[in-house]
Amino acid sequence: MANYCSVDRAIELLISGGIVALPTETVYGLGADATNEQAVAKIFEAKNRPAFDPLIVHVPNIDAVKEIAELDPRAESLLLAFSPGPLTVVLKKKSIIPDLVTSGHSTVAVRIPAHPVMLDILNRSQLYIAAPSANPFGYTSPTMAEHVADQLGDKVDGIVDGGPCQVGVESTIIDLSTEQPRVLRLGGMALEQLELVLAGTVPVLTSSSKPNAPGMLSAHYNPGTKVVLCESIDQIPAELSSKTAVLGFGDMPKIHSNQYNLSPTGDYNEAARNLFKMLRTLGKSYACIYALKLPEISLGRAVNDRLKRASVTS
Ligand code: TXA
Ligand code: MG
Repeated sequence: MANYCSVDRAIELLISGGIVALPTETVYGLGADATNEQAVAKIFEAKNRPAFDPLIVHVPNIDAVKEIAELDPRAESLLLAFSPGPLTVVLKKKSIIPDLVTSGHSTVAVRIPAHPVMLDILNRSQLYIAAPSANPFGYTSPTMAEHVADQLGDKVDGIVDGGPCQVGVESTIIDLSTEQPRVLRLGGMALEQLELVLAGTVPVLTSSSKPNAPGMLSAHYNPGTKVVLCESIDQIPAELSSKTAVLGFGDMPKIHSNQYNLSPTGDYNEAARNLFKMLRTLGKSYACIYALKLPEISLGRAVNDRLKRASVTS
């Protein structure tokens, strides 16, 4: 059952220890007061999320980052350049954030989201809001309020509808708690942009089934159907059944009647914005999706990462 609520009601619910689905520019998050362990525990329970997978804490501005974490100069330059926006920084945590939020790690992932509704809720509630993506663990992240209602509607205290998410993939996560910065998850902020500000190449930790970055499991983003990731159009079989769809990108020839395109004009931002919604829709109608890899440029990297993980079945 969908439990939509107003911003005012969401603030009341959050302050009193409830869990509320909230819009951000990347994907919808399932939020709770990060300093309230009982509220945070409800997030893990609603998502069926393992306790080893820490949460991102959302704050309204850089001053608030300093209240919960040790801000170093690299983090400050990145946040000054890209906040509010789809970037999460991992920093040494301060004691105000309970261990439950960070799964016992001495670091905390912090983000200043750009969605005006989320910023309004952060500012007016005066809370630090812990929020993972608002999907059951292992499934595709929601980019519309309806997606949350479908999958978690009866498990949350409220859902704030802030319209479709403009970025469409989760934030880029960069670990700045060590001397060498590392990207833990490719996402809505292009790697190239981060490297410009940090004046050097930043290694990207690839996803694995035995993650040393928690939560970076290979099998994630399950769209409920089989996904086959293809390097090029030649890898897509010539004969495909009507139960199969092709998901492409940019200018491409028509090779199948059930053919869809993340961005016919080859726009990486548009592709990211469309990705999860298309995977969900196609997952409902087809038994198998042949997805074409995007060039490893800009948000193409994040889209490929999600497609790759959607294609892993266990
Ligand atoms: O765009 C986003 O980041 C969305 C919106 C709601 O803000 N949130 C999101 O949260 O994607 P979630 O929980 O689905 O993914 C957060 C990732 C997880 O893979 C988790 O393991 C990692 O961040 N993470 C959180 N805290 C961490 C930490 N202290 N060290 C390393 N990784 C961390
Ligand atoms: Mg998630």
